[in-house]
Amino acid sequence: MVLISHDLNLVRRHADRVVVMRHGECIEQGPVAQVFDHPSADYTRELLAAEPEGSAIALNEADAATPVLEARRLEVRFSRTRKLFQKRPADFIALQPLDLTLARGETLGVVGESGSGKTTLALALLKLQTSRGEIHLEGERLDTMDRHTLRARRRQMQIVFQDPYGSLSPRMPVSDIISEGLRFHHPALSESEVNQRVAQVLEEVELPAACADRYPHEFSGGQRQRIALARALILEPRLLVLDEPTSALDRSVQKQLIALLRDLQARRSLSYLFISHDLAVVRALSHRVMVLRDGKLIETGTTTQVLGNPQQDYTRALIKAAGLSRQ
Ligand SMILES: Nc1ncnc2c1ncn2[C@@H]1O[C@H](COP(=O)(O)OP(=O)(O)O)[C@@H](O)[C@H]1O
Ligand SMILES: [Mg+2]
Repeated sequence: MVLISHDLNLVRRHADRVVVMRHGECIEQGPVAQVFDHPSADYTRELLAAEPEGSAIALNEADAATPVLEARRLEVRFSRTRKLFQKRPADFIALQPLDLTLARGETLGVVGESGSGKTTLALALLKLQTSRGEIHLEGERLDTMDRHTLRARRRQMQIVFQDPYGSLSPRMPVSDIISEGLRFHHPALSESEVNQRVAQVLEEVELPAACADRYPHEFSGGQRQRIALARALILEPRLLVLDEPTSALDRSVQKQLIALLRDLQARRSLSYLFISHDLAVVRALSHRVMVLRDGKLIETGTTTQVLGNPQQDYTRALIKAAGLSRQ
C-alpha cells in the first residue's frame, strides 16, 4: 500500500518505510523509525518540528468573568423519515443536552471523532440549526429572539469552515467575498469606506492588499482560510466559531494560522469556539476543552486537566492516537 499524506502522525503509525518529498524531489527515505527519530535532511527535521507549539494566551480576570456565550441544556434532534407501513421512528439525537459557557477572550476547544456532533453543536449555537434549550449571547436570549433582531445580532457571531476550497464563491473577487457581509450590515457605508475596511482587514490577516482583485482559485489553502477569516473579522464579531479550520492544511501552514489566530484573539479579545479532531492544534489554542462522543459531552475541563490527566478511556484513546509530544 502506498499512503500519501501530510499527516506525519498517520504515516508514523501505519507505514513501514517513508519517502519525504519536496518540490517534486525525494529528500530522504528509509524505515519509519529511522527517518522519524534520526532524520538526516533539514527539511525532514523542519516537518517534524512543525507540530503546533505553545498554549492558549493568558486570560485577564475581567475578561474571564465576562461571559460572551452561554448555553443551557442545548439539544439537537433530527427526525427520521417514516417508511411505508411503519411506526414513526424515534428522533435521532445528534446532541444530548449540554451546558457551556465561553468568556470574553477565551478559547473553548471542542474535540471528538468524526460524527460526534461537533458541527451540529456549532450550527445550533449560531442559530443555524434548530435546537432546544437556552442560548445567551452577551446576556441576550438568542433562542427566543425574533428574526429581525437575530439578523442584526448575526454580525457578532461569525464562522469559519473547514473546507477552504468550497467555502468561498469561485465567481467573486476576494474584495466582494470579504465585503458582502459588511455591505449587508452597514448599507450606509460608501464605496471608498468599504474598500478601506477591506484593505485594513487584509493587512490584519497578513495578506497583501493586491489580493482584493483576485479570485479564490489563485490562492493556496492557507491563504483561503485567511480570506475566510477576513470575511468574518470585517464585521467585528465578539465570537468566532472555527470548525476544523486547519484540518485541510499541512503542519507548517497550520502553525502560521494558529499564530495568527492567537494574535487576533489578543488584539481583539475575541472568543473562539475552536472545533477540531486534532488535539495538537486544540492544545495550542484552547483554555478549556470539551470532549464529545456520539453527541454526548463526556469530559470537560481546562486544557491541562483534560489532556494532561484525562478521566475517560475515550479521551485517553484520542490522546494516544494523536501521538501528542510532551511540551
Ligand atoms: N441534517 C441532518 N440530518 C440528520 N442527521 C444529521 C444532520 N446533520 C448531522 N447529522 C448527524 O449527526 C451526527 C453528528 O454530525 P456532525 O455534527 O456533523 O459531526 P462532526 O462535526 O463531529 O463530524 C452524525 O451522525 C450525522 O450523520
Ligand atoms: Mg464537523
